Amino acid sequence: MAIKTIETEQFPGLSYSIAGTGPAVVLIHGFPENGGLWREVWPTLADNFTVIVPDLPGAGGSKLPSTPLTIEDLAHAVKLVCENENVERVVVVGHSMGGYTALAFAEKYPSSVKGLSLVHSTATADTDEKKETRRKAIGVIEKGGKDVFVRQMIPGLFSERYKKEHPEMIKEQTERGLQIAAESLVAFYNAMIIRPDRTDTLRNAAFPVQWIIGKEDTVVPMSVVMQQTQLANVNFVSVYEESPHMSMLEEPIHLVKDLADFASYCKAK
Ligand code: MLT
Repeated sequence: MAIKTIETEQFPGLSYSIAGTGPAVVLIHGFPENGGLWREVWPTLADNFTVIVPDLPGAGGSKLPSTPLTIEDLAHAVKLVCENENVERVVVVGHSMGGYTALAFAEKYPSSVKGLSLVHSTATADTDEKKETRRKAIGVIEKGGKDVFVRQMIPGLFSERYKKEHPEMIKEQTERGLQIAAESLVAFYNAMIIRPDRTDTLRNAAFPVQWIIGKEDTVVPMSVVMQQTQLANVNFVSVYEESPHMSMLEEPIHLVKDLADFASYCKAK
């Protein structure tokens, strides 16, 4: 993969990776991650697609802007990356917080979207309870508890089976989370707290929508997501029994196949 960086006034250093040829697919990571999250997925996808993997501002190689961050800013950053590659229309894939970003992208730039894939994500806003949990976490991080927060959070994203069989992957993923600065973690949480409900983006979607749903997901519960899978005109729904929230690591072959099938369908449209 080639790594590139662009600089704008708003985003002083915006890093992304790109590989492959063919129709463009953008893979947007979640929290607290970076583009490396997709490492098991992009090589196969790049056989048939141009795969673009941004590090969202504040994560990986991308700097956190000096102004307060919103999910719409993250979508704007993704748009700048696409423009830098002269890509006009994309299949936009987002994992969890990356899905919130993908939805904001679809709302702001609908004519740029060939398809929207929400991987363990939701179009609903945070509940009051979730906002409160995030505010408490922000308090912990701001008091110097970043490491405790990340070490507690990461294992909860994986299935018990995977944690037992792949302790090294939990360690690796934790280390990735620990690399993110405390101020970025706080900025992402604040951005998620204020993001609006985007179910209307689904209702108005002129593009197909894919849903990758973890049956046992505790971050984005299946019951919440299932209610949204009828809102767009065209929906592809896959329920993963084995991977609660991290199918790109727990079941990458399964996920690659679903993403490639969806992107091929979008390509043919
Ligand atoms: C993620 O995986 O991106 C986050 O857990 C999403 C969230 O906290 O809502």
